[in-house]
Amino acid sequence: MNRYITTPIYYASGSPHLGHAYTSLVADSLKRFHASRGDSVKLITGTDEHGQKIERAAAAHGLEPRVFVEQKSLEFQQALRRLDVDYDHFVRTTSEAHVPVVKDFWERLVAAGDVYLGRYEGAYCVDCEQYFHSQGGEIRRRAAQQCPVHLRPLEHFSEESYFFRLSRYQDAIREHIQSHRSFIRPEVRRNEVLGFLNNNQLRDLSISRTSTSWGIPVPGDEKHVMYVWVDALVSYLSALGGLESDEHRTYWPNTTHLIGKDILTFHAVYWPGLLLSAGIPLPKQILVNGWLTVDGRKIAKSDASTLVDLRALTERVGSDSIRYYFLKSVPYGQDVDFSLDKVIAVANADIANNLGNLVSRTVALIHRFYDGGFETAGVELGKTELILQRVLDENFRESVTRFEAADFAGSIRLLIGTVSRLNRYIQEKEPWTLLKDESKREDGKTIFKFLHQSLEKLTRVLAPVIPITADRIRRQLGFDQGSADFVRVAKVEPVFPRIEIK
Ligand code: MSP
Repeated sequence: MNRYITTPIYYASGSPHLGHAYTSLVADSLKRFHASRGDSVKLITGTDEHGQKIERAAAAHGLEPRVFVEQKSLEFQQALRRLDVDYDHFVRTTSEAHVPVVKDFWERLVAAGDVYLGRYEGAYCVDCEQYFHSQGGEIRRRAAQQCPVHLRPLEHFSEESYFFRLSRYQDAIREHIQSHRSFIRPEVRRNEVLGFLNNNQLRDLSISRTSTSWGIPVPGDEKHVMYVWVDALVSYLSALGGLESDEHRTYWPNTTHLIGKDILTFHAVYWPGLLLSAGIPLPKQILVNGWLTVDGRKIAKSDASTLVDLRALTERVGSDSIRYYFLKSVPYGQDVDFSLDKVIAVANADIANNLGNLVSRTVALIHRFYDGGFETAGVELGKTELILQRVLDENFRESVTRFEAADFAGSIRLLIGTVSRLNRYIQEKEPWTLLKDESKREDGKTIFKFLHQSLEKLTRVLAPVIPITADRIRRQLGFDQGSADFVRVAKVEPVFPRIEIK
C-alpha cells in the first residue's frame, strides 16, 4: 500500500524547539512502522516561510526575509536530521517548486466561484496568523484583547481582502467527518470539531493580505499576497510535485496529516473546505497530538523558561530516548510533560536495563556455551517455548493493531511486557547452571533458538520506536545475515548504554 505522511511545516520565524520535534518524531515512527510492514511511504516536512510573522522576525534581526528564512530553514533541517527523522522531502514555501502549485490552487478556487473581494476588519494575532472574531461578526472586546494561544495582545487590522466561501462547505465538511469515523483522531478532537460545526455558522475566510508583501502574489491582483495559511496548507500538495504529478496520484489518496492541537481548525475545517472547492479528494486522516509542556507550560519560543537546548539534549540522551519517551509516556493526544530526569529514568529502565539486559545476556551466553553460534536445523522448541511463543505472537499482533490505531503507548507497553517475560524465561531456565553440564548443550540450543527468534520478532516491532537501538540489536544478533538455519551473534556490546545522571 502507498502512504503519504505529513508533519506541519514549521514557521521559519525562530529556531526549532522540542515542541516541533515532537510531531516530527511521531510522524517518523509512523513512517517506519508502515514501511516495516511493506508499505511504500513518503514522509514530508518543511518550513513555512511567508507572512507577516516571518517578515517581522526578519526585520527584528536586521535581515531580508529571504536571507533570514534560509538560515532558519537550515536549522530545522539540521535539527530533524539530528533527531534521525527520515523524511523524504523537505518543502519550503519560498521554493520555486511550491509557488506555481499554490497559484494553480488559487485559480481552482476562483474557477469554482468561491473567491470574492471584500474588506476585513478585526482583531488579529500575528503569531497565529489568524483573525479572532465572534461568530456574529462583532468583535467581542474581552476576547479581542489577547490571543488565547500566545497570551499576547491582539492587533486591530482593517484591510481589503479576498474571501473564500467557506460557509458554502459547512455541511459537506460536517458530513464528511460524521461519515468517516477515523478522519480525525483521537475522538476528543473529532468531537471538538463536530461540536464547533454544529454550534456555529462558518464565516467566509479572509485569504489575502495587503498588510504585508512577503508572500505569494494573488494571480491578477498583485497588491494582495495570499494568506499564509492557504500558502502553507498547499505545501502538502506541492511537496508531491503538484496535482499533475505521478507522486500525487500515487500517494495523495492515502494521506495522514500529523498536527498539534493548536492548528486543528485549519486542518479539519479550512483545509477540507479549500480542497472540496478545488475538487481534490480529502486526506484520509488527521492525527492530533497534545502539547509538549515543561512544568505544565507549553513549550514555545516566546516562553524562554520552557526552551531546552535540542542539540545538547540529543547528544546527551540520543534520539531513541526522546522518541520513546514521547510515544510511551501518555496516551497519544494528551499533553506530554517533559523533563530530562523523566526521559532518562524511562530510557534507563526500559531500554538500557530491561531490553539491554535481555540482549546482552542472550548474546553473552551464546558466546560462552556455543562459541558465538550454532546450526538450528533439527533443534525443536519444547512445550514451554511453544506455549510462550503463542502468547508472544498474540502480543505482537495486538501491539501492531494498537500502533495502527495510534495507540502508541498501549503498543509499547505490550512490547515491554514481552521483554520482561523473556527475561523471566531466561531466569527460569537458568542456562548458566544447566549448560555447565556438557551433555546438556544440545538440549540447551532450544533456549537460544527460541530467544533468538523471539528477539527477532520483537526487534521488528520495536524498531519504529527505537530505530537506532534496533539496528544495533539486529547487528549484534546477526538478524541481517539472513539464514534461518543458524544462529550467529557478534561480540557483546551494550545496545543502549545506561545514561549517567549527572
Ligand atoms: N506553520 C504552521 C503550520 C502550517 S501546516 C500547513 C505552524 N507552525 S508552528 O511552527 O507554529 O507549529 C508547527 C507544529 O508544531 C504544530 O503542529 C504545533 O502544534 C507544533 N508545536 C509547536 N509547539 C508545540 C508544543 N509545545 N507541543 C507540541 N506541539 C507543538 O503552526
